[in-house]
Amino acid sequence: MELEVKTSSPYKIIIERGCTGRIGGRAGEIFSSKSKAAVIADSNVFPLYAEKIAGCLEKSGFKTFLYKFPAGEENKRLAEITKMYSFLAENSFTRSDFIVAVGGGVTGDMAGFAAATYLRGIKFIQVPTSLLAQIDSSVGGKTGVDLPEGKNLVGAFHQPSLVLIDPDTLSTLPELFISDGMGEAVKYGCIAGGGLFEKFENGIVKEDIENIIFNCVDIKRNIVEKDEFESGCRMLLNFGHTFGHALEKIHGYRGLTHGAAVGIGMVMMAKCGEAAGLTEKGTAGRIKSVLAKYGLPVCDSADIEKIAETTASDKKNRGDKINLVMLKKIGESFIYTVGRKDVIKLLRAAQ
Ligand SMILES: NC(=O)c1ccc[n+]([C@@H]2O[C@H](COP(=O)([O-])OP(=O)(O)OC[C@H]3O[C@@H](n4cnc5c(N)ncnc54)[C@H](O)[C@@H]3O)[C@@H](O)[C@H]2O)c1
Ligand SMILES: [Zn+2]
Repeated sequence: MELEVKTSSPYKIIIERGCTGRIGGRAGEIFSSKSKAAVIADSNVFPLYAEKIAGCLEKSGFKTFLYKFPAGEENKRLAEITKMYSFLAENSFTRSDFIVAVGGGVTGDMAGFAAATYLRGIKFIQVPTSLLAQIDSSVGGKTGVDLPEGKNLVGAFHQPSLVLIDPDTLSTLPELFISDGMGEAVKYGCIAGGGLFEKFENGIVKEDIENIIFNCVDIKRNIVEKDEFESGCRMLLNFGHTFGHALEKIHGYRGLTHGAAVGIGMVMMAKCGEAAGLTEKGTAGRIKSVLAKYGLPVCDSADIEKIAETTASDKKNRGDKINLVMLKKIGESFIYTVGRKDVIKLLRAAQ
């Protein structure tokens, strides 16, 4: 399956079992074989896929260099990017060369950010290997790193030249990260439906993973094409994230995975919408049942005053207003702007 993303620099997304084994040919369609490739992966993914991918690129004539960095969100920081820059410079990478990011969202964000900034920007290919990266982070061009002050505070919009999604790589992904990715998958079903949510309700996932990835990516593609730089409807992708981020922060980014936090955030927001008469009754209940099916939590013991307070201090909120993503019903979302002080009122009403 193929999709084309028509952003400022358009690119293809290929969703195909085994496509990582054909990366050489695919790269050959966009780069001259005189180009060099830097294959970047974290310490978990490197031994599984990096050499195979490098070998395939070499076969198509690309001189290939391998780079490994330590796995984990705690390494998604500028110090690691500096090391990537040095690696690229030592190997004389120029603007005609390219990076291949092989791994989860951490690798895509970091290698993508290195690509966005090294020599003021070189090209890169995304080879996402986690479910979250395949349905979300590899598409849309957001790259970046964390600061001690908060997640993703430094970054750049830099669209990849190609995204190669090989569902077979999910066979080595630990189960915890599958359910984590399912949190985001359910989000797509909630915001733009098209039968996706019903598929989740019917429990059809593993056997239909290629189509599910396609559906999710297609929803993201559609939104990103309309609003590449997140000034409007791209915010819809943040459904569940407003309260989800607050929960992650309250839990000190430990104990609650991102997907789990987003799941709880979606239930909370749906409850707020139902209480305020904005969301069809029963929506929160449907989201809860689907999340539970995929081993995700549906509530959290954090205090709502604390959640409201943490939400108000989120970097994404400007001025005294907050943009909340609400559902009219499953499959239909909208942006609802409220005053900071109104968040607690919504949460109280939803209790
Ligand atoms: N750029 C965006 O638009 C965007 C969107 C959502 C999330 N993100 C970012 O993505 C990151 C989270 O992504 P993630 O959950 O993929 O995290 P991750 O990259 O840390 O991957 C999760 C874990 O799975 C391992 N892994 C990945 N693929 C594997 C495979 N096929 N087999 C075995 N192990 C594998 C990784 O080494 C890691 O330990 C966060 O930093 C988040 O900020 C970015
Ligand atoms: Zn997310």
